[in-house]
Amino acid sequence: MKKGSVGVKPENLMPVDIPSTWKAMEALYDSGKARAIGVSNFSTKKLATLLELARVPPAVNQVECHPSWQQTKLREFCKSKGVHLTAYSPLGSPGTTWLKSDVLKNPILNTVAEKLGKSPAQVALRWGLQMGNSVLPKSTNEGRIRENFEVFDWSIPDDLFAKFSEIEQARLLNASFFVHETLSPYKSLEDLWDGEI
Ligand code: A2P
Repeated sequence: MKKGSVGVKPENLMPVDIPSTWKAMEALYDSGKARAIGVSNFSTKKLATLLELARVPPAVNQVECHPSWQQTKLREFCKSKGVHLTAYSPLGSPGTTWLKSDVLKNPILNTVAEKLGKSPAQVALRWGLQMGNSVLPKSTNEGRIRENFEVFDWSIPDDLFAKFSEIEQARLLNASFFVHETLSPYKSLEDLWDGEI
């Protein structure tokens, strides 16, 4: 399997029964086996539907989030409902062979990094933290792991922080492998992401 890919074929996808799945999650929470329960890759619409039926609301929604896919609408919704947003691919997964990621090469990110004397990766992570997100950067390299931890004793000043709103937005991981006109419950990317693409 390619680095960062998912071993799922459309023909193996089943329609997910979210209400009964969530009930089972709540039972785990009630039993004390899980201290918190949450979701991943939920669009605003899917999260709203879940919140309507949930007795225990999800603590977290883990989604793709970085300066080039800021999840503005979803983040506002999560905030208004007290659901924490955790960012996967906070660096835009630069080493993933099947993705064309240039998040860390973004000129605005690089200008800010240069001005602050930090690496683009550190600024991307710090941006996420200042947005109120958790960030889950991945590295197999000790030096970069250390670099990624050095984001807690400085901040991006307001004037530079405002520049992030100028960054062109594009979802990187569109998960098109979940989409199939007949075999998958998700017939199109619109369908899969409820228009948030
Ligand atoms: P490596 O393991 O060689 O450090 P994400 O967390 O967004 O999915 O990105 C993970 C990718 O980002 C990995 O390929 C990792 O490569 C690379 N990476 C992690 N930290 C840094 C960093 N500080 N600068 C550049 N690339 C990084």
